[in-house]
Amino acid sequence: MLGPVEPYRVKVIEPIRMLSRDERVDKIKKASFNVFLLRAEDIFVDLLTDSGTSAMSDNQWSGLMIGDESYAGCRNYFHFEEVIRDITGFRNIIPVHQGRVAENILFSNLLRPGDSVPSNCHFDTTRANIENQGAEAVDLVIDEGRQPDVDHPFKGNIDIDKLAEFIKNVGVEKIPLGMMTITNNTGGGQPASMENIRKVSAILRENGIPFFFDAARFAENAYFIKMREKGYSDKSVKEIAREIFSYADGCTMSAKKDGLANIGGFLALNEENLATTLTNTLILIEGYRTYGGMAGRDLEAVARGLEEVTNEDYLEYRIKQVEYLGNQLTESGIPIIKPTGGHAVFVDAGNFIDHIPQHHYPGWALTVALYREAGIRSVEIGNVMFAKKDRETKKEIYPALDLVRLAIPRRVYSNSHMEYIARAFKYIKDNPSYVKGLKITYEAPMLRHFTCRFEEVA
Ligand code: F0G
Repeated sequence: MLGPVEPYRVKVIEPIRMLSRDERVDKIKKASFNVFLLRAEDIFVDLLTDSGTSAMSDNQWSGLMIGDESYAGCRNYFHFEEVIRDITGFRNIIPVHQGRVAENILFSNLLRPGDSVPSNCHFDTTRANIENQGAEAVDLVIDEGRQPDVDHPFKGNIDIDKLAEFIKNVGVEKIPLGMMTITNNTGGGQPASMENIRKVSAILRENGIPFFFDAARFAENAYFIKMREKGYSDKSVKEIAREIFSYADGCTMSAKKDGLANIGGFLALNEENLATTLTNTLILIEGYRTYGGMAGRDLEAVARGLEEVTNEDYLEYRIKQVEYLGNQLTESGIPIIKPTGGHAVFVDAGNFIDHIPQHHYPGWALTVALYREAGIRSVEIGNVMFAKKDRETKKEIYPALDLVRLAIPRRVYSNSHMEYIARAFKYIKDNPSYVKGLKITYEAPMLRHFTCRFEEVA
């Protein structure tokens, strides 16, 4: 294998600056040992998210100049609509400024208290928007999808037996829609297979339940199908994407991921009456039908991004770059979720940092050490983010896995950055005393990870 090699050359650069270690020690302390509270300009390599952080192409930047900022009927909307119809086959295209608004509009119109929505794993905002309607978000991913060291090509699959049983137990009338997240972000950016998508679609259709994708990373999922599933190696990613969408009734999309744009999203669906209802809500909360909270130029950037994202040279490099980082970490003996997903490497921090007890947050401590020693920002998806409190004893109950996510922005960092990240992990592995346990000094009642403050324990 000769790759991965970036299939582009650099035309514009954005300088990044490495502060001295003393400065980083000071910055992270002032940020109360919470990487969300750092200033982004004090970070050298930022792996907080792959969302909205893509580098746009020269083609997208030039598209900004032909942004038509008319309130109604701007030309960029028609381009946006045409590209999305071409990829998804859905008839009605409703623009929104980011994914969670698509979720809000869909769920506020479809769900009633007591309803349930099954999926492989719901992303946080999807779950929150479902729960906000008094409904329940249910994760039915296959068991392999929850086992970090089990290698399986499609860990994002839905367990078909569990889905059938779920429908039987809950009853069709309480399930206004079924969903599937491609790729499955919360489960490690793992793909679902076409076979699984087809089966999920068949079960839902037999029961008259509409099927929607959360399609934020559909192109990465389609590329995994091309690489790993029998019968797809000779199909183009675009053909595969069209087949994926043909099994559903609609999708929500955050274009901040596979739209290769810094802002944007959409809802796409076939059913006309529902589309009319959703459009009315859109106009109420987001914007007119032909811009939905985006500027004309942003619509153009998304349209062009979606044309670029199914390019197979790009996708090959994208998936291989993530794998390249994963392989280097594995070679250095750092435990990660296997195989690597489409957009991120998930480090099994609970296993890696074994000198810190659970209640001093080993995963979070690793994010602090990565910044202090190497200027890298990562995000803990573990004990701080997901702990539940026992009602009586107030003791924290921790999730099964204490993970640290290294999300890779699209087209932003080179393979030399990947090597740097891997070296940083090796350095921390060789110097475990640099990772120090933490104690919480402030926490908000909900979503505490964003604003939590800590002290290091001796
Ligand atoms: N669905 C999935 C699968 C996502 O990963 C995200 C965002 C959303 C929906 C919401 O989209 O941010 O445009 O409103 N994920 C980001 C992340 C924030 O870091 O994983 P949004």
